[in-house]
Amino acid sequence: MSLKDIAHEKLSTIRERGTYRELRELSGPHGTRVQLNGRDVLLFAGSNYLDLSHHERVVEAAVRGARDWGCAAGGSRLISGNLDLHEGFEAEIAAFTGCESALLFNTGYAANLGIIPALVGPDDFVVSDSLNHASIIDGVRLSRAQLRVFPHADCAALDKALSEVSRDGVRVLVPLDGIFSMDGDIAPLKTMVEIAHRHGAMVMLDDAHGTGTLGEGGRGSGAHCDVMDEIDIHMGNLAKGIGSFGAYVAGPRELRDLLINVARSFIFTCALPPPQVAAARESLKLVGEEPWRRWQLQLNAAQLRKRLAAAGLSTEPSQTHIVPVILGDNARTMAVCEAMLERGFYVQGIRHPSVPRGSARLRITPMATHTAEEIDALADALVEVVALHPVTGADA
Ligand SMILES: Cc1ncc(COP(=O)(O)O)c(C=O)c1O
Repeated sequence: MSLKDIAHEKLSTIRERGTYRELRELSGPHGTRVQLNGRDVLLFAGSNYLDLSHHERVVEAAVRGARDWGCAAGGSRLISGNLDLHEGFEAEIAAFTGCESALLFNTGYAANLGIIPALVGPDDFVVSDSLNHASIIDGVRLSRAQLRVFPHADCAALDKALSEVSRDGVRVLVPLDGIFSMDGDIAPLKTMVEIAHRHGAMVMLDDAHGTGTLGEGGRGSGAHCDVMDEIDIHMGNLAKGIGSFGAYVAGPRELRDLLINVARSFIFTCALPPPQVAAARESLKLVGEEPWRRWQLQLNAAQLRKRLAAAGLSTEPSQTHIVPVILGDNARTMAVCEAMLERGFYVQGIRHPSVPRGSARLRITPMATHTAEEIDALADALVEVVALHPVTGADA
């Protein structure tokens, strides 16, 4: 079979399922307004939640980073790419998270692929929430650890799974998303951490969407739930709320040393480029200096949830700046997404495999800098458009 035949066969299956995906090309600058196919639209689909990616100081830091260090680190961290910039920023991240040390990874995806196999192997267990992010799932696959999945946010089920697998000499890891990326709910971290530790399991918090956007000082969902000091392994993201690129892992000194020695997604890849590190470093300072951004972000999300609920559109179970409107079938979801674009609003339709089958949704992500009028206009348009696209039941 030729390459083209293989691609055609696989793509026709994807088309039949109604989950064929295409790239949308945006032109900048990437604030609350973007150009999409030549049309000016209000963006409610990104992860630049705090609108820091083109903040003057962040851009200036990136330019300085390029001027002072160049556009590439010039090697992997273990081979000539370990700059004082990386080390300096890691010390600041350690202080930000209240941990002994931190280590940068090139993406959150790479971080999860590196951490999990570094900690557990085929004789060990991972007990994982059913809605944990794909990068956690892939990290577990790479580790070849034995997997137990418990229903989303079900503390009793977590307790039961842990009591089944915990015994002397067996390592158990409980990876938790802080904010679930497609539902916007916050994990019941306090209870889950208590349960995990009672069974002697390690807790890893993936706070991709909480970094900078939630909790005291922008320290994320761990701070929001008052468990920062109890989390064993913190993973945070620099590409979403922080508006740059990359991710970090923070924890005890020994964790950093271990990851440097065994995490393949850290070892066998070039170090983060200086402009991105410098930008993230400046952005993290702004998170501390401008708390209004995360406050306004949460106020905007609350306004949107309230407006939609008043019109009968559920955004359950969202408690944060990720606001889903579950429409069920794929065709309906994508039709609403296109109709919203026609009206000048970019809200992303999300289908399987990003979300469970039959729960296709709009994933709406307000930003700190949207105005109250823009949120209201979005809610008005969405209520109208959803009413114009009734349930078809096609693939629900
Ligand atoms: C919960 C979670 N973890 C990890 C990641 C991956 O982060 P990155 O985009 O930096 O690879 C994401 C990204 O969407 C995420 O939502």
